[in-house]
Amino acid sequence: MTPDLDALQVHHFDALENRYAEVLTAQGYDRLLIYSGRPTRHFGDDQDASFCSYGHFQHWTGQSQLTHSWLLVQPGRRPVCYLHAPDDFWHLPAQLPDEAWTARLEVVVGRYDEAPPIATGGRLAVIGDVSAATSAALGAELNPATLLTALDEGRVRKSDYEIACLSEANRRSVLGHSAARNAFLAGGSELDIHLSYLQASRQREGELPYDNIVGIGCHAAVLHYQHYDTQAPRKRYSLLVDAGHRYRGYCADITRTWPGAEADPLFADLIAGMHEIKQRLVSEVAPGVAFVELHERMHRLLGELLAKSELVRGSSDTAIESGITRAFCPHGLGHLLGIQVHDVAGRTAHDGSPLPPPADHPALRLTRELEAGMAVTIEPGLYVIPMLLEPLKSGPTARHLNWPMIERLAPHGGIRIEDNVIVTADAGRNLTVDIE
Ligand code: GLY
Ligand code: MN
Ligand code: MN
Repeated sequence: MTPDLDALQVHHFDALENRYAEVLTAQGYDRLLIYSGRPTRHFGDDQDASFCSYGHFQHWTGQSQLTHSWLLVQPGRRPVCYLHAPDDFWHLPAQLPDEAWTARLEVVVGRYDEAPPIATGGRLAVIGDVSAATSAALGAELNPATLLTALDEGRVRKSDYEIACLSEANRRSVLGHSAARNAFLAGGSELDIHLSYLQASRQREGELPYDNIVGIGCHAAVLHYQHYDTQAPRKRYSLLVDAGHRYRGYCADITRTWPGAEADPLFADLIAGMHEIKQRLVSEVAPGVAFVELHERMHRLLGELLAKSELVRGSSDTAIESGITRAFCPHGLGHLLGIQVHDVAGRTAHDGSPLPPPADHPALRLTRELEAGMAVTIEPGLYVIPMLLEPLKSGPTARHLNWPMIERLAPHGGIRIEDNVIVTADAGRNLTVDIE
């Protein structure tokens, strides 16, 4: 670990201690117990699903794979980590990493599939995937909503340490994207591309921040395409890879789209156009910008691209007002990014009151105004999704669409370009470097 990251981590830890002390005191709690969580067992089986620790546990520890471990936070006292690491010859017992934060804790190693023995007295809250019975046995309040809202809000503006981790996650993810593209150009299948990504970014599948989306050709039109074909297709029109990395708990979430050997030149032009749109939107990131307005701006830029490329006959206004841009781009411009790929509090105001997305844009996950320290994704897209375009064929909008051109594009599936951006004091700082 570099000394810089060490120093940043100590500051991060100090800030966490202060923030938690403020929140707990303001809400009248004496102590808080945070549970890392348990893996889910497949029904009727002895095998578990892949696991990821609770976000607030990772906020302190950066550890995404510690099961059954607990953190006790008490204002003015050293936090205690109850590390679940029972003697076990079937598995390697868990260990804490060699990182600065571990020196700030009291660590108690033991078996904690049940809650640790906490001294009684005072008002205790417990948060995480804890049963009502366990909470009652502790004499605790379980997942109090007001407390969770305040703790979520404390994850919205990232510390310098968190930004360094997000940046490192980006660096590693970019290595994966570069290898994925090369595997595609070398004729690989979706599975080959996925495996190349994992190898180059040095991560196992079960620890990814989300399942890699690796779509060749029309599979790229499925927003969260979840399979990996083992056979390479005969014709290679396109590749879309949406894949990330988790570094010390913090996620990268990057998407790139590449033309294949059989790509229509129109598709390559649209990819270039989408890169330009992404760049424009990144350049408009700044504190005070309403993300809903930036999302609407994406629709305007997309409308202009559709009109310029003659996919739409008419103006950008026509494409927006008739719902055409929403059919080509049904997802949101982006979301908060952090310990969770879709990080907490994207649709809540400072005080926790809900900020629902506009009715026309129900998938938008970030409806707040941007603030310095936020990490967001900027991910414009242009998809040919038959289920969304088909209904436009029979209505008054049909005449605005260039159907033969849409047919030409369909085998390419879609385009998304996604970068990760930090909101600075006066602009946006892109953490995602260009992928060679
Ligand atoms: N990878 C999921 C997303 O881009 O939001
Ligand atoms: Mn995203
Ligand atoms: Mn993504």
